Amino acid sequence: MALSLDFTNMFLPGVVTDAEWSESAGRFRGAHAAVMGKHARGELGFIDLPEDQALLAQTTRYAEQARGRWSDVVVLGIGGSALGPIALRTALRPFGWNGLPDEARGGLPRLHVLDNVDPDTITATLAALPLERTLFLVISKSGGTAETMAQYLLVRGTLDARLGARATEHLVFVTDPAKGSLRPIAQREGIAALDIPATVGGRFSVLSPVGLLPAALIGIDVTAMLAGAADMRRRCDSNELAANPAGAFAVLQWLAHARHGRSVHVLMPYADPLRDFAAWFVQLWAESLGKIQPDGTSVGPTPVPALGATDQHSQVQLFMEGPADKTVTFVAVAGRERRGPIPALHADVPDLAYLGGHTLGELLDIERRATAGALAARGRPNMTLTLDAVDPWHVGGLIQLLELATAYAGELYGVNAFDQPGVELGKRFTYGMMGRPGFDEARAEFERLPQSDPKRRV
Ligand code: PA5
Repeated sequence: MALSLDFTNMFLPGVVTDAEWSESAGRFRGAHAAVMGKHARGELGFIDLPEDQALLAQTTRYAEQARGRWSDVVVLGIGGSALGPIALRTALRPFGWNGLPDEARGGLPRLHVLDNVDPDTITATLAALPLERTLFLVISKSGGTAETMAQYLLVRGTLDARLGARATEHLVFVTDPAKGSLRPIAQREGIAALDIPATVGGRFSVLSPVGLLPAALIGIDVTAMLAGAADMRRRCDSNELAANPAGAFAVLQWLAHARHGRSVHVLMPYADPLRDFAAWFVQLWAESLGKIQPDGTSVGPTPVPALGATDQHSQVQLFMEGPADKTVTFVAVAGRERRGPIPALHADVPDLAYLGGHTLGELLDIERRATAGALAARGRPNMTLTLDAVDPWHVGGLIQLLELATAYAGELYGVNAFDQPGVELGKRFTYGMMGRPGFDEARAEFERLPQSDPKRRV
């Protein structure tokens, strides 16, 4: 089992230099010490999740007693409370889990994640579900997010109307152990509730019951996932830049950006199961690092998701010849060279004949290497994360690597990676317009903004 980062192609003329890399060793030691200091002060609970046996037991106990009872599990959540469960389902239950017949799912439930408040999606999903056999996981760290609370109210109204007093058996809350509105409701009504530790923030919570519970309910080996994360955590205990995969990822992205203008950071897995993992990374990198520094300067990289080989026929043209402002991190999956043998047919058609005798796995991997080489040949920096397999152990390791990298990057960019003050104003305007008590001033402020000008519409 192995997970490695090859960063050879970051050292290109006009991009990262050996001198910059060597000089960054000290800066990284400082970033590592700062992250470890925050952890020692009890601030960064995500670092402890891989070894939190009590939380794991809470999850597995619940999943075991639920086995066989539900045909469908629905996550209600948004942001970090939804992207993690979606990424885990796609990565570890690929090939259309929800569409598989019951026998092929081994009697395990389908998993749906409602990560928005689009009325059409929610109404259609609820109408299609067999409510008698459906469990709803209401996932919210704060226990107060408007979208998730609205989803809950809608679901609760439907459950109450259809199931009466049995409604509460169809609900589980995953939330802060003490704060927020969900916890007291759970206590009052005897609704099962699992913990998101107080020191774990939304986008860093996938290895808590936020991701573990939905994963365990659909039979994913969450113990192996945490073991992979714990292994990565140990590798990242080192304050030696060249020995710490998360450190190397963070420092190289930051150097490429801060010194060489590479502000767009693409994550491009060459594996369909990791398609939604790229979306999870986008939230982690964007919401953590897009900030205002203490001196008032706005900073932050722009993460972009891509998928190989699909995006070779789309975004790669931009990556090759568009502005030289990007890094591309490929995610490769080793050992698939023999998968999907391509029959040798049409020997007389040159465009087809050369493919015969190869495999799809080989083609996909060669395309990745070809794209990495082509980018490097044009001076476009890139690196490659390689997993031996897309399995719980490697996915857990990759999660921990990217979360730690984000924490280090926060130090390097000089910002707090763990808050999100930029989303507050929009929330306050929403509360004001929805009539939430205490937000009249926010509503008035919104109404003072320039109104839509009919002359500027077509
Ligand atoms: O990373 C974060 O903290 C946010 O993106 C949250 O995950 C998102 O706002 C949802 O918050 P909550 O889990 O409190 O409902």
